[in-house]
Amino acid sequence: MCGIIGVVGSPDTLTTLLEGLQRLEYRGYDSAGIALVRAGQTWRVRTAAGTESVAALRLECEQAPAGFTSGIGHTRWATHGAPEAVNAHPHLDCSGNIAIIHNGIIENHTEIQERLEAKGHVFTSVTDSEVLAHLIEDSRASGLELMEAVRQSLLTVRGAFALAAMDATEPNVIVAARRISPLVVGTAPGVTYLASDVPAILDKATAFYAVNDDEIVRLGPEGFRAVDLDGAPVRLHQLSIDWDLETAEKGGHDDFMSKEIGEQPDAVRATLLDRRRRDGTITFDELRVSDEELRDVKRVVLVAAGTSHHAALVAKYAIERWARVSVEVDISSEYRYRDPIVEIGTLVIGVSQSGETIDTIQATREAQRRGARVVAISNIVDSSLAREADAVIYTRAGLEVSVASTKAFVAQVAALELFALRLAQLRGTLPEQDIDALFLGLNAVSGQIATTLERSAQVEHVARELIGARDFFFLGRHVGFPTSLEGALKLKELTYLHAEGYPAGELKHGPLALIEPGVVVVAVATDPAMHEKMMSNLAEVKARGASVVVVATDDDESVAAVADYVLRVPATEPMFTPMVDIVPLQLFAYKMARGLGRNVDRPRNLAKTVTVE
Ligand code: G6P
Repeated sequence: MCGIIGVVGSPDTLTTLLEGLQRLEYRGYDSAGIALVRAGQTWRVRTAAGTESVAALRLECEQAPAGFTSGIGHTRWATHGAPEAVNAHPHLDCSGNIAIIHNGIIENHTEIQERLEAKGHVFTSVTDSEVLAHLIEDSRASGLELMEAVRQSLLTVRGAFALAAMDATEPNVIVAARRISPLVVGTAPGVTYLASDVPAILDKATAFYAVNDDEIVRLGPEGFRAVDLDGAPVRLHQLSIDWDLETAEKGGHDDFMSKEIGEQPDAVRATLLDRRRRDGTITFDELRVSDEELRDVKRVVLVAAGTSHHAALVAKYAIERWARVSVEVDISSEYRYRDPIVEIGTLVIGVSQSGETIDTIQATREAQRRGARVVAISNIVDSSLAREADAVIYTRAGLEVSVASTKAFVAQVAALELFALRLAQLRGTLPEQDIDALFLGLNAVSGQIATTLERSAQVEHVARELIGARDFFFLGRHVGFPTSLEGALKLKELTYLHAEGYPAGELKHGPLALIEPGVVVVAVATDPAMHEKMMSNLAEVKARGASVVVVATDDDESVAAVADYVLRVPATEPMFTPMVDIVPLQLFAYKMARGLGRNVDRPRNLAKTVTVE
């Protein structure tokens, strides 16, 4: 989720790059850099000072030689390699002429790097991105123009990218390309711009064009031309953008929450990229616990708070089912004060979007003190939790601004379920063909979330009908239970209405006494194995006058008998349903909150990161 900017043909190139990078601040970053390129000279500077990186860059740029009219800039959100200057972009090739910036993940970077090193290329960073600079250098060596060299290079690259390349031997040209990660081109008289996000160039360009997947664009001062991966010319689609800066930062959405809900397919896809070798082995490159240790794990304990706790609850079902290890899930503030038992072979997993939640950090410290190995699941590279843990798996959801967590949740579930599959692989508890099928299924989730997002109108209708309601019970069984907890939490956080999540089987043990006309029951009923029981639970609440909303799969006709409203989702493997089923519940909370005039990004009394106990 890095930020990219490029300029060709402007006497104000340096200022435009620095201002553009500053405007990308809302995306979050840990380091930044720029390269200015002209005939025979590539001048580069990089800084890693967290959110001060662009300010530090500005200072360094006071030393920049004058007279450059083209350059590229980058703010980095680390995925491969620590957030240090040496890993910041732009990366250079061996000659120092070619500079590249990249957003995304190059899945086959290890094999490409090995091949290029064998040919004599020298790498200087611990990033997947640097291979692009050397690949392009390699293609250029056979006499190709920069655009053709980039096109040829991309034929060998797997993964996701928005990239820009410049070469001092072909000045005043930027070649950019995209697959999955966004990229826009902007034009103004005599100057052409490139950016990952419109805000970076909003006040500079007068026309904007979207680059599509697998398109390569050559930018010069006079304009741009584009080709597809086969080299055939393509036309870029012009965007009609009449946004102010604030709207642009939200990607044209009304608020960060709807932007982030919309980013969930990408959050899951990015989290799963580059996690499986050709031989089928599931890998986590940040996981510094040996295979032997993982295989011999006797017990897994997950500690987390808020939404992350709900993701941890989903993981319990997956790890126990697939890897046959007993799993305990604890609220982190409870774990640390209850004199927990940590036996040999206990693996503690701290799950946290921010990696800074004090209770979760204290819980994992307590576990480490008692001899446990600790794995962190964190969305922020080098967060406190990540630094202190023995190993870390990063979710790659990108910066989450809205206080109520959405895309981090689906990314956490994806990462944890992948971890469960790895445990099963190591322990031999699932046949390899089942792991294959589950891995394929996990990769299909991103598309299923996208399909569900397209159906927001069905949720809008239900939210409008139920806008006067004050009491909500969310019910589910199996992984539908944590989904219900998360659905209730979203509604509570955003609307300030009373909402509780319950395992449907507990209905008779208390909540049923509260069911009466006016109460809304929201049920997650997408698991065929749990369906019959859910239907009888719902018949009971309907008989007592509750309004019943059911999240059900497309093919489920029987649900009509008990539901007043049905929120349809595509069917998926039951263990993966939380990532899909949560989407209509997030949208429901969001639309109810908007209907009630609440501030969805900043709910009253709540903070994004809780660093005090
Ligand atoms: C706060 C946030 C929640 C988040 C929880 C845990 O309550 O408002 O959205 O789920 O903290 O945060 P973490 O960063 O540890 O996941």
